[in-house]
This record gives sequence, C-alpha cells and structure tokens, in this order.
Amino acid sequence: MEKIVVDGGYPLSGKVDISGMKNAAVAVIFATVLSSGVCVIDNLPEISDVADCLAILQSIGANVRMVSRNKVEIDTTNVRDTEAPLDLVRKIRASYYLAGAMLGRFGKVKVGLPGGCNFGVRPIDLHVKAFERLGATVDLGGGCIDAVAESGLKGANIYFDSCSVGATINAIIAAVMADGLTVIENPAKEPHVVDLANFLNACGADIRGAGTSVIKIYGGRPLHGCEYAIIPDMIEAGTFMVAAAATGGGIYINNAIPKHLETITSKLREMGVRVDEYDQAVMVTAGEKLLAANVKTLAYPGFPTDMHPQMAVLLCLADGPSHLNETIWNGRFRYVDELQRMGAKIRVEDRTAYFEGNTVFSPSIVKAVDLRAGAAVVLAALATEGRTMIEDISLIERGYDNIVSKLRSVGANIRKIEVPEGSSKAFFSEIKI
Ligand code: EPU
Repeated sequence: MEKIVVDGGYPLSGKVDISGMKNAAVAVIFATVLSSGVCVIDNLPEISDVADCLAILQSIGANVRMVSRNKVEIDTTNVRDTEAPLDLVRKIRASYYLAGAMLGRFGKVKVGLPGGCNFGVRPIDLHVKAFERLGATVDLGGGCIDAVAESGLKGANIYFDSCSVGATINAIIAAVMADGLTVIENPAKEPHVVDLANFLNACGADIRGAGTSVIKIYGGRPLHGCEYAIIPDMIEAGTFMVAAAATGGGIYINNAIPKHLETITSKLREMGVRVDEYDQAVMVTAGEKLLAANVKTLAYPGFPTDMHPQMAVLLCLADGPSHLNETIWNGRFRYVDELQRMGAKIRVEDRTAYFEGNTVFSPSIVKAVDLRAGAAVVLAALATEGRTMIEDISLIERGYDNIVSKLRSVGANIRKIEVPEGSSKAFFSEIKI
C-alpha cells in the first residue's frame, strides 16, 4: 500500500510548473475517435485518469504511442464498433465521452455507465437528452448506455436547462458528426469545453461560440489528424495557490492562465493573500493573517466546485468564522470527517459547511476520500506541525501530476512510501523524509 507522509508546518516557496488540464485531456483523448488521421496530443498530465482513457482507446483498437512523458500519438483508424471492457470504463467518469464519440463515428454505441468520484447521484439525463435531440434512441438498461441513430445523426437545437460540463462536451462531440447545424443553448462555459472545441476545430470541425452561452456546430465535415497541446490545469494551479496561502509561504505558479484563475484569485485577495498576475503565471504570497470569507461554488466563471475542499482548508485556518455553500455536488463534503480528525471545527447543514476558523491542525492518519478531498488533506498536512500520513493516495494520483515531487520542489517535506501490511505507528515515526 502506498501512502503519503508529510512533516508539515513550514512555509512553501519557489516555483512550480502546472501540467495540462485533466478534464480537458480526457475529453480530447476520446474525441480523437472522430478523426481519420493521427492526432498528436501534447501537454498531457501524467495521471492515472489519462492512462485509463488511453487504455480504453487501445481496448477498442486505437494505436496509442507515448512519444514522451507528456505527449502521445493516437491513431484511431482501426477503432472497432465494440464494447470497451467494463472494468476500465467504470474506473473513470470521462468514459462517458466514448458514447458521444462512438455515436458520432458509427451511429451506434454500447458502453458501460461511467465511474469517477463518489459525490452521490451523478445523473446523465442531459447527455441522453442531447443524443436524442440529435436523432439517437437511447436505452440505459443493464448498466449501459446503448444508443443508436438509425438514420444517422442530424443537427438540432439542444437547450440545457442546467449547466453540465459532461453533457456539453458529449453534445459537441456527437454534433460534430451530425449533418447540418446544431445549436447548444445554456452550455457549460468551462475552459475545458473551449479546449475541446479548439482541438476539434484544429481537426477541421466548425464549432463557434464555445465559452459563451450559445455554441453553434456546423457538423458533418470529415475530421483529419492534428497536433494539439492541452491547456494548463486551473484546479492544479488553484491547489498550489492554496498551498502557498495555507503554509504562510510564496509560490510562483508557472504555466498557468491567470484569466481562468480569476475567481480563486479574487477570493484569496479577499482573505488577505497577495496574488500578482503575469502573462502565464501567478505569484501567490501569504499575508500577515488569513481573513475569514464566505464562498459559494458555481459553474464557470463562478468559484469551481473542484476547489471546494482545498478552499475549506483555508477557511479552517482563517481568523474567524466562514461558510462555504456547495451548489454543484451534494456529496462534496466527504473531506469534512478527515479534516475533523485533524482538529477542524466544521459543521455541515444541508449544502453549506460552517467553519469556526483559527484551527491549529494536529497531525493524524487521514484518507483521501476522493480526488479533491485528497488534495485538501495534503494541504492541511502541509500546514500542520508534525507528521501526517495520508492513505488511499491513488485517488489523488487520478488527477494530480507528480504532486509529491512538485511539492518537494517548493520545499515540502513530503514523501510517498510503500507501507508493509500491518505496520505499526512506530514504523511511521521512524521514516526519514
Ligand atoms: N447533472 C445532471 N444531469 C446530467 C449531468 C449533470 O443533473 O446529465 C448535474 C450534476 O448532478 C451536477 C451538475 O449537473 O449537479 C454539474 O455536473 P457536470 O455534468 O457539469 O459534471 P461532470 O461533467 O460529471 C465535470 C468534471 C468534474 C467537475 C464537474 C463540475 C470531468 C471529467 N469531470 O463532471 O470534475 O466537478 O464537471 O465542474 O470533466 C474533478 O476534476 O475533481 C471533478 C470531479
């Protein structure tokens, strides 16, 4: 069993380079199924979700060749109209993009329902609605998405009554292959939606308006291969921003897009943290003290739900009471038990967490209960004097590229260790970091 051990309580300082965005990379990888050439995708984060996406593509016949650590060549010429192995599909959320991609390419698809972080119910009704609007018949029986467009996909008007990143991306992927014009109203505006559209346009698609409230897709054009670099991960950047603030340090966060970080930046400034913006970087410097603040998560450009648990750590440390209202995932509060184990005073009522503030975390043995909750306990450990151990770290590695070595590069005393079954507490206190 691998675990992370942190000797915290020290300010972090230095420079860190942000990797490509997980949620853009996973969409782009599945969208390569639509291209009839070779796609070279650069700036891929080295994370297990990306490895799982590539394994799924290989399982259906794609030729996948790693050119370097962050660059892959994908040739989907020989992809077959076949069902991907369920154990792979269930490992990740993004496998639902295979539905849009296979439907677009073959006019039919059968793929298992996806997995991903456990936030309670994660419906896919909006994905189904989009496929149906484009002319497919969809059956969700037997734990699968089983869809067929007997007369081919046809461009259509798709109105989403609520914003969904996944449904917007799936609708774009399928509509690119649908004959005629598709108009998506009230789509998600996240940077990864724009990145996916930019990738498809680089392959010859005609998608306009991604990132705004109406997306137009002139579908049915054949797609060729291209070379494409994934945008930087705003959530990884945000996590390092919080790391600087939580440890009283200063980190130069390089290869970031400051515009994508605006809501995080403005919340940190409200809390007394200094954020200097550069062309492709932000410098985050902790202030004298962390001021209390209230946060509400919203779809982009609102405060990202994927930064909720990390921000909760700062609210624990802030000088006074705060609250955080979650509007996207009602199961997002699973980090609370872990932070409470470290001494945090948090109360959750309905979809709001109330923080007493002025927490002095105490070292403990805690778990990564999901990807971002895992990042939160790492951040709390970095801000805690003494030794904290984090279990179930594979959930963190789903979405953070080499988090341990990146944190070490800004001065953290952190290490990944292999723990023999049945090890005693003494084992942890003897580890050298
Ligand atoms: N929703 C529906 N019906 C649907 C789809 C979504 O009601 O058909 C609801 C969901 O229940 C939720 C809201 O709409 O309340 C937003 O869900 P969305 O579809 O936007 O989420 P997702 O596509 O499943 C992506 C990211 C998540 C991120 C959310 C919100 C990927 C692979 N995942 O999920 O990322 O939290 O958008 O921004 O892109 C993460 O990276 O840690 C992560 C969980």
